[in-house]
Amino acid sequence: MSVPTPTRDDQFSFGLWTVGYNGTDPFGGPTRHPLDVVHVVEKLDELGAYGLTFHDDDLFAFGSTDAERQTMIDRLKGALESTGIVVPMVTTNLFSAPVFKDGGFTSNDRAVRRFALRKVLRNIDLAAELGAKTFVMWGGREGSEYDAAKDIRSALERYREAVNLLGDYVTDKGYDIRFAIEPKPNEPRGDILLPTVGHALAFIDSLERPELVGVNPEVGHEQMAGLNFSAGIAQALYHGKLFHIDLNGQRGIKYDQDLVFGHGDLHNAFALVDLLEHGGPGGAPAYTGPRHFDYKPSRTEDETGVWDSAAANMRTYLLLKERAAAFRADPEVQEALTASKVFELGQPTLGEGEGHAELLADRTAFEDFDADAYLGGHGFGFVRLQQLATEHLLGARG
Ligand code: GCO
Ligand code: MN
Ligand code: MN
Repeated sequence: MSVPTPTRDDQFSFGLWTVGYNGTDPFGGPTRHPLDVVHVVEKLDELGAYGLTFHDDDLFAFGSTDAERQTMIDRLKGALESTGIVVPMVTTNLFSAPVFKDGGFTSNDRAVRRFALRKVLRNIDLAAELGAKTFVMWGGREGSEYDAAKDIRSALERYREAVNLLGDYVTDKGYDIRFAIEPKPNEPRGDILLPTVGHALAFIDSLERPELVGVNPEVGHEQMAGLNFSAGIAQALYHGKLFHIDLNGQRGIKYDQDLVFGHGDLHNAFALVDLLEHGGPGGAPAYTGPRHFDYKPSRTEDETGVWDSAAANMRTYLLLKERAAAFRADPEVQEALTASKVFELGQPTLGEGEGHAELLADRTAFEDFDADAYLGGHGFGFVRLQQLATEHLLGARG
C-alpha cells in the first residue's frame, strides 16, 4: 500500500516552535542547533505543507529592537513570497519571559497585565499584516500552584476583560481575525485556567463578542486530563466553535508529550480524522480550517529526524483519512451502523408538535412498553462496530 503525498490542498500547517524545537527540557539543554525561519519555510514547502504559524518571540527574540524585529519580519515575508507558504494563524508568547511567571492576562501584578495586553495588541497588528485569520491564545502561565495564591473568580474576570478588549480592537481596526482559546489542564502551571474545551466554551459564552472567539483544542491537552479528544472536538463543532486545531500524539495522563500525530491513541486519532473529514452534512468535512501540527520532534533526533517527523504527521493524517473513507464506504459498516441504531439517534425523541401532555398520553411509551425485554435481547452491537473500525484502521479491509 502506498503512502499518500501531502499537497497544499490538505492545508497542513506547522508552528515555527515545533520543527524549531531545539530539544531543551527541564533536565537538560538543547540537543539541536537553532533553525533559521527561511530554511523552515523552504523545508515545509518542500514537504507539502501550506502554512507556518508562530509566536512573536519565535520570530524575533523577546526584547528585540524595532529594527531587529523588522528585519526578521522582512526575512519571513521574503520566504513566504518565494514559496507561497501562508501564515493562517499567529499567537503571542505570554509565557517564556520572567515577567510572565504568574501569567499575562491574569497575573496578580496589574502592570504585567497591561504589558501583556500591549504585547498582544502589537502582535495582532502583525497577524493582520500577514493575512492570518486566526489568533490563538494559549494561557499556559494563566493559573497557579497554590489555592490561596489566586482568586480564580477575579482571574476569570481579568481574562474576560482582556479578551473583550481584544475583540474591541479587531472590530475597531476592521481586522478579519477571530480568536481561538487553547485549553490545557496543567504545565507549566500546576493548574491552568480554562483547563479543558468545556471550560473554555463556558467562558466564551460570558464574553461581550462571543462570535469572535472559539477554541483551538490540542489532542494531548485533553488527553492529559483523561478526556476523549474526538468527543471534545465533536462538542466544539456542535457549538460552532472549532476555529483551529492542534494535532499531536499523547500517551495517557502525564506530561505534555507532543508526539507525532497518531503516535499516541491511534484509535482516537482515527475517530478524529473521520469526524473532521466526514462528519459534515452528507459526509462532507466537518472542519475546513488548517490541519495544524503542534508537536515536538523528539530530543533524540537530529535535523534529519526533525523533517522526517514533520512528514510523519502529515503521512499519518492522510493514511487515516484514506482508512476513514474506506470505513465509511464499506456496506458492512453501514449495515452495522444501522444495526447499532447510530442513525436513529438523529431522530428527535418527541414527535412533531408533541409536548409533555402528548408524551404522558402515549401508553406505548411507558405503560405498554416492555422494558424487561431488554434483558437478554436488543444488543446494540457496538463492539462489532469498533472491531470493523479497528480492521479498517489496520488496513485489513477495503
Ligand atoms: C503547549 C501549547 C503551545 C501552544 C502555543 C500556541 O503546550 O506548549 O500547546 O504549544 O499551542 O503556545 O499558542
Ligand atoms: Mn502542548
Ligand atoms: Mn498547542
